[in-house]
Amino acid sequence: MEPLVLDSRTRLLVLTGAGVSAESGVPTFRGMNGLWENHPVEAVASPQGFEANPALVWRFYSQRRAGAADVKPNPGHDALVRWEQHLGDRFLLATQNVDGLHTKAGSQRVVDMHGNLFRTKCADCSRQPFADATVHPSGTVPKCDACGGRLRPDIVWFGEMLDPQDLARIGEFITRQDGTRLVFLAAGTSGAVWPAAGIVDEVRSVRGDTWLVNYESAANTERFHHFVQGQSGQVLPTLAKLV
Ligand code: OAD
Repeated sequence: MEPLVLDSRTRLLVLTGAGVSAESGVPTFRGMNGLWENHPVEAVASPQGFEANPALVWRFYSQRRAGAADVKPNPGHDALVRWEQHLGDRFLLATQNVDGLHTKAGSQRVVDMHGNLFRTKCADCSRQPFADATVHPSGTVPKCDACGGRLRPDIVWFGEMLDPQDLARIGEFITRQDGTRLVFLAAGTSGAVWPAAGIVDEVRSVRGDTWLVNYESAANTERFHHFVQGQSGQVLPTLAKLV
């Protein structure tokens, strides 16, 4: 197999999804034992679901907080840390994962596209989101100290906008003109959720090279130049040649 060459003329954008955390024991969303098989998405991951039953939403995210609190990064996360140490500012990691495992592993240039499971914000006022690992297993809905309104997890739900600053950071990395060649690698993501699923086409529009590492074929596999089928914790540690 042709290696992914990371040399001084390369800048690398990585996109990760739930599959990268699977080997750490965090459930994925789709597929076997996927979270969305047991929970209707609209009920627990949309503003409408929160309006209808905020206690159910807090029970769901409390379970996820409890489940993700003690998990450890796996060799896939560690490989990305080494690549970043090698490339420095020529590396950017955009993740759809909210479990915080990339940061726990030591990645620094991370864009949390879908928010963070261990952060809470107010549904009713504009106070800053804050770090919070509290679980509400009985489904009590915590109240905002600032306005008395309802707190909610700082997750980007279905039907909500991603943070424009996050999208701008990714867009600027893709179009950066510093004489380097752009390589994009997506790992552990089904390619079913936008805008993440469209990054491959943005990269292709500036003639970047594109890689997919996934356990199964993704919805957008044919958009990638290279597809390496396998588990990210096994594939990523040996995929790149650092020169
Ligand atoms: P999915 O659950 O949709 O897809 C996980 C992908 O990872 C699947 O294609 C699996 O084949 C693959 N996979 C599983 N184990 C793997 C492993 N060990 N190594 C490599 N690949 C593996 O997860 P995402 O694509 O991340 O959004 O889902 C995108 C978004 O949909 C999530 O961020 C979430 C969800 O709704 C929000 O909650 C806002």
